[in-house]
Amino acid sequence: MSQPRIEIFETGAEVAQAALDFWVDLLARSQGDFWVSLAGGTTPKELYRKMADQKLNWGRLHLVWGDERFVPHDHADSNYRMVKEAWLDRVSGLGGIVPWSIEASAEDSANHYEERLRQRPHGVDLCLLGMGDDGHTASLFPGTAALHEQQRWAVANWVEKFHSHRLTMTYPYLNLSRQVLFLITGAGKAPALRQVLRLEEHPAAAVRGREGTTFFLDRAAAAELD
Ligand code: 6PG
Repeated sequence: MSQPRIEIFETGAEVAQAALDFWVDLLARSQGDFWVSLAGGTTPKELYRKMADQKLNWGRLHLVWGDERFVPHDHADSNYRMVKEAWLDRVSGLGGIVPWSIEASAEDSANHYEERLRQRPHGVDLCLLGMGDDGHTASLFPGTAALHEQQRWAVANWVEKFHSHRLTMTYPYLNLSRQVLFLITGAGKAPALRQVLRLEEHPAAAVRGREGTTFFLDRAAAAELD
């Protein structure tokens, strides 16, 4: 796989600013509709808050979510709710906001998202991702079935440690992305990050953008990189 670009910043705030600059620059250099797959969790919150302060042609922007917890959109754990509160409640006129629908079963939710993603034959322009302390990305957790999915673009993935399903894009779809940008901060990520970047181990090591893959790290997360 092509080598990713790695940039290390002093703080998480600088990572968020660099990610904003990366996103706005890619948007400016693109034409027409611009599709973004959003990362969940806590790291990207500051980036989404910064996006709300931008003066952009919002109508070009179409949002999908790289993964979601199988909970209602108003649940505290919902990635959709996190993005809504950090960003979407403060802007209007986006071209498209496409969260995972939470249906009667996780499989129904995944089938619905698969149909929605397939309406657009190619991947997103920008795929934002985080990484867990265990090297997972999106909801592609070590030892789970979704890691082996080679056809579908969206699946329900049973995660034993949570004793619940997660909804996640799969490698076939994530790797259709033009650009992949990982935002990873905090000392807890350092051991897994070394294994991802130096040994190409863990799920996060298997995601690459067609035109490029970039890791924006803070110094704490990069502490074990030689
Ligand atoms: C999620 C995310 C997940 C996240 C990592 C890192 O639904 O939790 O999509 O992949 O990016 O777990 O999470 P933090 O940013 O909270 O460390």
